[in-house]
Amino acid sequence: MQLNKVIAVWGNPNSGKTALSIKLALELTKQKKNVILIHCDHETPVISTVLPFVTTKDQSLGALLSAMQITQESILKACIPVSGNRNLTVLSYLHGENDRTYAKYSKERIVDLFILIKHLADHIIIDCSSHIGEDLFSRAALELSDQVIRLTSPDLKAISFFDACLPLLGERKYKVGNQLKVLSNVKPEMPRDMVANKFGGIYTELKHSPELERQFYEARFFESLIEKKSNLYVTEVRKLVDLFIDEEDEKPKKTKKVKKINEDVDYRPVKEKKSTLVSLFGKRGEDK
Ligand SMILES: Nc1ncnc2c1ncn2[C@@H]1O[C@H](COP(=O)(O)OP(=O)(O)OP(=O)(O)O)[C@@H](O)[C@H]1O
Ligand SMILES: [Mg+2]
Repeated sequence: MQLNKVIAVWGNPNSGKTALSIKLALELTKQKKNVILIHCDHETPVISTVLPFVTTKDQSLGALLSAMQITQESILKACIPVSGNRNLTVLSYLHGENDRTYAKYSKERIVDLFILIKHLADHIIIDCSSHIGEDLFSRAALELSDQVIRLTSPDLKAISFFDACLPLLGERKYKVGNQLKVLSNVKPEMPRDMVANKFGGIYTELKHSPELERQFYEARFFESLIEKKSNLYVTEVRKLVDLFIDEEDEKPKKTKKVKKINEDVDYRPVKEKKSTLVSLFGKRGEDK
C-alpha cells in the first residue's frame, strides 16, 4: 500500500509552490509513476501561466467540482494532457475563470474527488493556493493529503504569513506537526537560520536556481532543469520524491504479470480497474 499517494504542496505566497509541484510531478514520472497534478488556485488560474498555449476543451477543475455528480469519467475528461509526457496530466481552473464562474461546491464534493482520483494514478500532487481561509479546496487538501510539504520563504513576510495562517489549522485533523517544512528559494544573503529557528527547524531547503526563475518567465516549468547551478535544487527534489515512493513498489514484481495497457479511455468502475490510470496515461513510464 502506498502511504504517500496524495501530496499537497502549500506555503506562503510566491514561495515556489507551483514550481515545486511541477518538478515533483516530473521527477515522479521519470521514475515511471503516473501522476495527476492539481492546480487548485482559482484566483490566478495556473494553467495560463505554466502551459499558456495548451488547448483545453472545457476541462476546468471548477466545472468538475461544481457538476451535479463527480465520477471517474468526469475526472478523466477534465484532465489536461501535458505534451511530451504521457505519465502526467493536469487539473486546473482555466484562463479567465474565478471561484464564481461555477456554482459553489461543498467539502463533500472534494472528498468524493479524493476517493475517486486515488484510483486513477500512482500519485496525486496538489499545488495549493496560500489562502486557505478562502480556498476550500486547498484547506481540504491540507486535511486529506497523505503528506503536506510546507514551503517557507526565508524572510519576514513568510513569518508574518504563517503566524497569521497557522492558527486556522489548529484542529487536529490538519496534523500541522506532520507537515514537511522546507525553506524555499534560498539565497545566501537571506536570514535562513532565523526563519528556520522560528519554525522549530526545517526538513530541508531548496536553493535559488536562476534557471528555474527563467523558466517561470518563459512558461517552461514543465521542462527539466539542466544547468549546473540548479543541481542543488534538483537533488533536493529527488530526495523528496524518494520519500514518497513506496519501497515495496520498487522491488521487481516476479509473480505479477505485466498488464497490457491500451490507450483508449476506459470508463469501467473503480473496482474493475484497481491498478493504475492506464487508460488515461497509456503505457507506463513511456514518453510520446
Ligand atoms: N528555488 C527557486 N529558484 C529560483 N526561483 C524560484 C525558486 N522557487 C521559486 N522561484 C520563483 O519564485 C516565483 C514564484 O514561484 P511560484 O509561482 O512557483 O510560487 P507560488 O508559491 O506558486 O506562487 P503563488 O503564491 O502566486 O501561487 C517564480 O518567479 C519562481 O521562478
Ligand atoms: Mg502558485
